[in-house]
Amino acid sequence: MNHNKTKKITDLVLKAGKTALAETNTKREPEPTKSINWPVDCVVGPGLEGAIACESKIGYVNGAKGWLLYGGYNIFDLCAYSSFEEVCYLLLYGKLPTTIQLALLKNKLIKYRNNHQTLRALMNFSVQEMNPMAALRLGTNLMRNTTTDVNLEGYVPENVEVISADEDSIPMETQPLGQEHAIYEFPGESDSKKVKGQVHPTTGIDCCLHLISGIAVLSAAILRLRNGYMPLEPDPELSHAANFIYMATGRRPSPEEERIMDITLILHADHGMNASTFAAMVVASTLSDMYYSVGSGIAALNGPLHGGANEQVLKMLKEIDSVENVKPWFAKARANKQKIMGFGHRVYKAYDPRARVLAPLAKYLSKGNRKKSSLFAVAQELESQVIATLGVEKRIFPNVDFYSGIVYSCLGIPPDMFTTLFAVSRVAGWTARIQEYLRNNRIFRPRARYIGPFDMHYVPIARRSAKKK
Ligand code: SDX
Repeated sequence: MNHNKTKKITDLVLKAGKTALAETNTKREPEPTKSINWPVDCVVGPGLEGAIACESKIGYVNGAKGWLLYGGYNIFDLCAYSSFEEVCYLLLYGKLPTTIQLALLKNKLIKYRNNHQTLRALMNFSVQEMNPMAALRLGTNLMRNTTTDVNLEGYVPENVEVISADEDSIPMETQPLGQEHAIYEFPGESDSKKVKGQVHPTTGIDCCLHLISGIAVLSAAILRLRNGYMPLEPDPELSHAANFIYMATGRRPSPEEERIMDITLILHADHGMNASTFAAMVVASTLSDMYYSVGSGIAALNGPLHGGANEQVLKMLKEIDSVENVKPWFAKARANKQKIMGFGHRVYKAYDPRARVLAPLAKYLSKGNRKKSSLFAVAQELESQVIATLGVEKRIFPNVDFYSGIVYSCLGIPPDMFTTLFAVSRVAGWTARIQEYLRNNRIFRPRARYIGPFDMHYVPIARRSAKKK
């Protein structure tokens, strides 16, 4: 990637990071925490708010300070200097890769872009009439069928992460020992703790990479099919971000567009135990496999309270239509106690650091485009009015979804595909956290407090009446 052309974008990110630091450095620094001695006390609210489900080294969200870290690296540095591929390695392995390790990962992602069989199977369905997230979820099931020919109940050899595949989607590599299954290992991985024994053959690292690559290919193909075009062949010369734009829109992005897409993928990659990550982990904790687990993450992300908000934000900004209309619109929304899409967060009671990066990128991309710049102006006016009221009263600030829609639409992605783009990135966090949890797996099984009666006597139906007692 041509870095001096994209230096201004790096500067925008670093400036956002400096502002974040200046605005939140008065907040108490978080204490580094050690491994948990279970059972642990915690105050739990409805929706498991505050519940500690597990421990993790993958990512950290500090709601008071508006911080987001992946493996200890702050999100502003990762957006400024890293790439989505490098962040995938960090999430999956807990460290930044060496040049060789990154090259190996990139080669695997490029190999796993070839999902011809999956796409052929997908085109047997009327994708254009399906909800894009439903099509994406179907696609992950098709990936599972066309990718593993192993008997899924089969025993997995000790101490290896194994994936077996047909030549169509994951080219087999003969192993020196000539094992029947392809066993992929990255050099220098021996220090990472091998997953023992009973791990399902479709939950190894290569399965994660297959899904990270495949979800991007599927989303782009679904976008093309919905617009009446055939899916495009991936371009092995392009980065993950650039290849997604190419496969989705048919045009190779400019260096700036590629850089901005790469940054949005980094920003959305992981975010602690959010609803879709938790959903994916619950399914994986039953030792169902990665494909089913990612499918449940996609289902959870589809909800407008979670991943679907950025599409609603764009609708809202278009409905407001001008800066002058913001005040009356917002007054009416407040009077109706309406939740403003793209604002508020279960954890952040400060400005979402991801929105801090996405706002200047939305401004940068919308410059020169009258419609998009007017949307951005409306967003900025709405932001200032919300922060001045709900921000003060209830710590409600813009979240990741508030500006991402403007960025995506400037990159040529239609609003009904925004949430699939969220999944293109979040699949990295889903798979990484599943891998981490499976190393000390325990099926998720919280409680429900029973508040019903105990002493009911059975009455035959003939003697029952509809009247409430
Ligand atoms: C994502 O968890 C994650 O990390 C998620 C995510 C990720 O990366 O995975 O960050 C991605 O999901 C971002 C959020 C996208 N959703 C939206 O933008 C939808 C609008 N936001 C709200 O629905 C809400 O803020 C939630 C769902 C995001 C969080 O809601 P909470 O924590 O359950 O907050 P709440 O509903 O308990 O609200 C607390 C108070 C209420 O007022 P009172 O009843 O106390 O008077 O804050 C108010 C709410 O009415 N409030 C809002 C508001 N969000 C909360 N008021 C106006 N507009 C809003 N957006």
